[in-house]
Amino acid sequence: MEEIEAGVHYVINNLQIGFMIIIRHASKNDLPQILDIYNDIIHNTTAVYYYEPHTLEMRTKWFEERQEQGFPIFVAEEEGAILGMSTIGPFRVPTAYQFSVENTVHVAATARGRGIGKLLMPPIIKAAKELKMHAIIAGIDASNEVSLKLHQSFGFVEVAHFKEVGYKFGRWLDLKFLELTPIP
Ligand SMILES: CC(C)(COP(=O)(O)OP(=O)(O)OC[C@H]1O[C@@H](n2cnc3c(N)ncnc32)[C@H](O)[C@@H]1OP(=O)(O)O)[C@@H](O)C(=O)NCCC(=O)NCCS
Repeated sequence: MEEIEAGVHYVINNLQIGFMIIIRHASKNDLPQILDIYNDIIHNTTAVYYYEPHTLEMRTKWFEERQEQGFPIFVAEEEGAILGMSTIGPFRVPTAYQFSVENTVHVAATARGRGIGKLLMPPIIKAAKELKMHAIIAGIDASNEVSLKLHQSFGFVEVAHFKEVGYKFGRWLDLKFLELTPIP
């Protein structure tokens, strides 16, 4: 009996080790890893429409702006490695947009498909609610089936489809806006 219990305990521990992912607020120390994830996405995907890599200075400025504006940045950490991030920030500048935010969620290429995107969504939705926001907008490349599915699974609904507004890797890109409102 003891042996069986020990065996079960061992397996559970192994499973826990495999999935010991912590979602927490980002710190400045995380920025180099967040930058690496972002630059890989710039280089290899149409998830973001930049061509050139960002610098640590740009990420630091972005981090400080989010702090000043009171918007959180969350990271997924596993054994000290940052595997993904999510955040909300201003949708547009004019004051009447003050109750709308735009969200971002990115997972490292090596960690995709493990449910980390799904773990990073609830904290930003909760934060938006606590900040008394009324709408969250996600701008998603129309070919990004995984991100579309991820957002739809949290109640986001497609509200706009812009045709050929981006150009990257030698082709035109369509951009969709999905919106979550009211925020549950
Ligand atoms: C989009 C992204 C954030 C999703 O994060 P992720 O950790 O890979 O996704 P998850 O493992 O949490 O899966 C989310 C959903 O997509 C599905 N999914 C994940 N990978 C998939 C794949 N390759 N093909 C089809 N479906 C997939 C999952 O099954 C899950 O759906 P379910 O709830 O029905 O099971 C991540 O893939 C990513 O960072 N991609 C590159 C950058 C990007 O596109 N960012 C979003 C910009 S809007």
